[in-house]
Amino acid sequence: MSVASYAILVFLALARYNAEITNSTSNCMESGCSDDKQCRDGNNEDCNDETSLDCQCKSNYTRGLIVTCYDAFSEKAKHVYSVPIAQNGTPIPDPIWYHRFGTDVYTLRVDVDNIQQKAYIYHSTVKSIYKNPNYNLGNSTENLWTILYKGLSSGVVSLAVDWVSHNIYWTDPTFKWIMVQSLSSTDTSMFRVLIQENLYRPHALALDPSDALLFWSDIGRFTTIEVSSLSGRNRKTIVISNLLRTNGLTADHQGHRLYFADTERDTVETVTYDGTDRKILLAKARSSFIDVAVYQDSLYVADMGALYVINKTNGNAFSMEIGEDDFGYAGVAVFHEEAQPVTDRCQDYGCAHICLTELGGATCICKDGYNLNEDNKTCSLISTYFHRALVFSNASSICILDITVLADFVFDPVCVLETTGTKYMAMDTDQRNVFIANDTAIYWTSVDNRNLQLLAQLSGSISGMSWDGYDRNVYWTESDTGKIWRTSIESKTAHVFLEGLAKPRDVLILPHHRLVYWISERNGSTIESSNINGSQQHIVLQYNDSLKWTSLSYNPYRNRLYFLGILEDEERTDIINCNLDGSNRASNNAMYRILNTLEIYKGYTMVTSYEDELTTITFHSLDDIDYMTEGECTDAGAISVIKVFDENNRQNETEDGKTCMSGICCI
Ligand SMILES: *[C@@H]1O[C@H](CO)[C@@H](O)[C@H](O)[C@H]1NC(C)=O
Ligand SMILES: *[C@@H]1O[C@H](CO)[C@@H](O)[C@H](O)[C@H]1NC(C)=O
Ligand SMILES: *[C@@H]1O[C@H](CO)[C@@H](O)[C@H](O)[C@H]1NC(C)=O
Ligand SMILES: *[C@@H]1O[C@H](CO)[C@@H](O)[C@H](O)[C@H]1NC(C)=O
Ligand SMILES: *[C@@H]1O[C@H](CO)[C@@H](O)[C@H](O)[C@H]1NC(C)=O
Ligand SMILES: *[C@@H]1O[C@H](CO)[C@@H](O)[C@H](O)[C@H]1NC(C)=O
Ligand SMILES: *[C@@H]1O[C@H](CO)[C@@H](O)[C@H](O)[C@H]1NC(C)=O
Ligand SMILES: *[C@@H]1O[C@H](CO)[C@@H](O)[C@H](O)[C@H]1NC(C)=O
Ligand SMILES: *[C@@H]1O[C@H](CO)[C@@H](O)[C@H](O)[C@H]1NC(C)=O
Ligand SMILES: *[C@@H]1O[C@H](CO)[C@@H](O)[C@H](O)[C@H]1NC(C)=O
Ligand SMILES: *[C@@H]1O[C@H](CO)[C@@H](O)[C@H](O)[C@H]1NC(C)=O
Repeated sequence: MSVASYAILVFLALARYNAEITNSTSNCMESGCSDDKQCRDGNNEDCNDETSLDCQCKSNYTRGLIVTCYDAFSEKAKHVYSVPIAQNGTPIPDPIWYHRFGTDVYTLRVDVDNIQQKAYIYHSTVKSIYKNPNYNLGNSTENLWTILYKGLSSGVVSLAVDWVSHNIYWTDPTFKWIMVQSLSSTDTSMFRVLIQENLYRPHALALDPSDALLFWSDIGRFTTIEVSSLSGRNRKTIVISNLLRTNGLTADHQGHRLYFADTERDTVETVTYDGTDRKILLAKARSSFIDVAVYQDSLYVADMGALYVINKTNGNAFSMEIGEDDFGYAGVAVFHEEAQPVTDRCQDYGCAHICLTELGGATCICKDGYNLNEDNKTCSLISTYFHRALVFSNASSICILDITVLADFVFDPVCVLETTGTKYMAMDTDQRNVFIANDTAIYWTSVDNRNLQLLAQLSGSISGMSWDGYDRNVYWTESDTGKIWRTSIESKTAHVFLEGLAKPRDVLILPHHRLVYWISERNGSTIESSNINGSQQHIVLQYNDSLKWTSLSYNPYRNRLYFLGILEDEERTDIINCNLDGSNRASNNAMYRILNTLEIYKGYTMVTSYEDELTTITFHSLDDIDYMTEGECTDAGAISVIKVFDENNRQNETEDGKTCMSGICCI
């Protein structure tokens, strides 16, 4: 049989299976066809009937593939199906089950829990992880897939299941973290950001449950493959060179090797767990290797146009399936019954929230918003509000939204403080304080006691505010007096930091760089800067573009300044960015509306615009050059400020003596 007709057979089988999921399925199961070949050839008396293509559905399979695939013509992934694997390692084209996942899915990634026999899928359109209750049930009913986690970013998210201790890990390239969620609990809030320091754009993910290792690729600044324990400790980079876009990763716990697919290098390669002995197994120009899975001698490679089965040692083809431009794969996972399953060290360990396997033991972690108690097992709530949130102020209140609003856009705020006329806010994440300025004064409160206290009276018209988490000072600008002021909660005395400035606004402190930035109004807008001690005051960026610059922000991942450039007459706003010294100015495509504020969090930009007495908050991915809108929220009247609060992003030093801010660590 030619490879092309093989693919068509699969396609027909899928179509037919979908149409004919009838009682013959269960009849077939009951009769227990034991031999795949008999079934396919239609030789088996009990199993052979008019719908013999369904006959593969003997009772529970011990091994098979779960693949997600692209539909003909639409370039959108729609199907998830399960096929058995024959003794020789090649998949048998008749599906065990088949599921059609709506119409507009762009990416479907998949992994399985071999012990609990569950399958998990990342659905990029719904930005959710779905679970299936038992991949062996042979049931294609829609409602078998239920949502496990909602609020991931779009783009390439990979997932990997620890099927020994029953946890799922996934990468989020825009939130720039690796998350873990317990699968042992029915409580779907049992998740936590496990790793976020120095992650630029985590992509592919794999784990080895017996060696308790987690592997991932980061395609941020330059592409790397890293490893840590399953609890995120002992992190190190194992592959650093000759990687471009490593999209698929799998770990072979028998051979202690990693296999990875690089979509831009057009290769499938392997290295040992410590990054040595690298080999190219498959190289094919204009391919699009997207995901890999390994079992025994076979490596399964999903490509946009084919599913390859190769010998994991030498890359020799076992079998190949090629779709004629109308059939492709997005994700692949192998399920199997391990002869000797590894013991689950978490089973009786007694963690209150989430238990992670460690080499030779287990460790407890708490879900987001909780700290581990001294017994190392139980957890205590940090505080009711503000773990990782979008904070906004409108005319009457200060309200917060869970940060997943950036991906999930469910606008469900909790208002935590009633205060009128807030014009600026600043966040002290270390001590959980908020600074609030209105036209007359600056106030502060702890987010926990929410008892607003006066910090300073204003002497002019406030035009910006920023927090220096290093020296613990709040800074603000007054446009009419030309001054920048600073004070601290401890001193409560305002000092003039700089004066004689040209209509300063939007002050921005970069604590780790020991630099202060602000925008001035001279002949057009300028960005100006000084050291945190006030010395070396100078103009960083000046050019006459007739735009009004505002909302000065910092993106630590690119180490660049971002700001809005508004052209009122044309109802147009650019998002402009440049290096800290003003060089390399760039600007995105103009947006034809007036934007009011800009805030950057991880890989997201958030902008607000105001129309018909209502503010809309729009989210974009910074990694997406077209600034495609990721989501929009509106429902709070006129919003004056938006800020992000992330208590996991404190400025404290890490174990190895680096200070971290916004997930990026400086030496
Ligand atoms: C299929 O099974 C259902 C439930 O077991 C039964 O009600 C129905 O009559 C069966 N249909 C056929 C055609 O055997
Ligand atoms: C498959 O296995 C599951 C649990 O392991 C069991 O509940 C189910 O009855 C089995 N199905 C068949 C057709 O044997
Ligand atoms: C398919 O799923 C439905 C709903 O969960 C269930 O009622 C039905 O028994 C399942 N059928 C089979 C053949 O497992
Ligand atoms: C795969 O390749 C290795 C090394 O050449 C060989 O020893 C092994 O038998 C092959 N496996 C199969 C199933 O052919
Ligand atoms: C908890 O873990 C810490 C750090 O590993 C350790 O120093 C401490 O002794 C542990 N406490 C208990 C009660 O096991
Ligand atoms: C500023 O906020 C304080 C505290 O909420 C409030 O008492 C005062 O009236 C506000 N001033 C203005 C001008 O809104
Ligand atoms: C504006 O430009 C003129 C001519 O270049 C210059 O003399 C003047 O000082 C500038 N004004 C400011 C506020 O920079
Ligand atoms: C201000 O800071 C800069 C840079 O850290 C330093 O070179 C300079 O000596 C400092 N000046 C004063 C007056 O402390
Ligand atoms: C800046 O540009 C505007 C409009 O293009 C022009 O009217 C103005 O004279 C320019 N100013 C300077 C100092 O070049
Ligand atoms: C501020 O936002 C909250 C939450 O959406 C809303 O309930 C309240 O009405 C808003 N206040 C004003 C003045 O629009
Ligand atoms: C972080 O630093 C603050 C003081 O700046 C301290 O109170 C807090 O305990 C530190 N947190 C951690 C986790 O080290």
